[in-house]
Amino acid sequence: MPACVSRPRILVTRAIFPEVAQRLSEHFDVESNAADADWSADEIAHRLQDKTGALTFGVERIGAELLTQCPALKICANMTVGYNNFDLGAMSAAGVLGTNAPDVLTETTADFGFALLMATARRVTESEHFLRAGKWTRWNYEMFSGAEVHGSTLGIIGMGRIGQAIARRGAFGFGMKVIYNNRSPLDAATEAQCRASFVSKQALLQTADHVVLVVPYSAASHHTIGAAELALMKPTATLVNIARGGIVDDAALAAALREHRIAAAGLDVFEGEPTVHPGLLTVPNVVLTPHIASATVGTRRAMAMLAVDNLIGYLVHGKAITPLNAAALQGRI
Ligand code: DGY
Repeated sequence: MPACVSRPRILVTRAIFPEVAQRLSEHFDVESNAADADWSADEIAHRLQDKTGALTFGVERIGAELLTQCPALKICANMTVGYNNFDLGAMSAAGVLGTNAPDVLTETTADFGFALLMATARRVTESEHFLRAGKWTRWNYEMFSGAEVHGSTLGIIGMGRIGQAIARRGAFGFGMKVIYNNRSPLDAATEAQCRASFVSKQALLQTADHVVLVVPYSAASHHTIGAAELALMKPTATLVNIARGGIVDDAALAAALREHRIAAAGLDVFEGEPTVHPGLLTVPNVVLTPHIASATVGTRRAMAMLAVDNLIGYLVHGKAITPLNAAALQGRI
């Protein structure tokens, strides 16, 4: 693009890989947050007022209130697969495209789901804390006995790409019986590839030894697991949440863990994160990680590059790679 033509202006709301910032700057005028300052919603809205696009991180609320202040905005590109920070209805009404970053994180996130399942079932962090605290003075035949993983029943709620990748690990790697619940059953060929069978949510909760949540967050999936659902689970069962905070009622889960109504939980996401429900911080039978399921260098770089591809695709070439509301915007750019 010749230097005299003004280039689209992009806001990057958080720190990002230098090579990602560099690639953006080859196409756009970029305002970045290299210091990774904690910008408030008002500050983000203010900084977005003269921008054409934003590289967002799945946490900035993009809704009607912000959009009315940002008349030049054309696209918000999340570097995450989750996009519950977008009000897609309001974005479509304002002529703003939302994009996310699917696929590039599927296998890495499934790896982590399994890591969390293993750590939870086999009490990895709890036993490490015991050792580090100098409490290991004698070996005992039943110390830190956990739940079997191989050959057990794995229940997956939310059978999208990541759910399917977890199912394959369970079925083919660990000889698990895999059951799942989803808005609708998968086609027979995909079920066979995952060696998984569709069951009702109630049957899944009652029979699974390990329940893994991979359902996207929406008003409909809020508190998919609350006190009533926890009461259906086996007292020996584990629960793993790598989906989103709000899918689980964290207060109800903390009570169930404290009272040993289920055996253990592994949580990568929390209601109100980065704040964590205090009841979860004080029970030993929970493994807690700070929303890192997709965190490998290669995957996070690929997620960020896909967000950049979406910005370049839409603002330079007129077509995003992974649009969310393109149909609603047809003919606008
Ligand atoms: C995602 O991509 O949605 C992950 O949860 C990281 O935020």
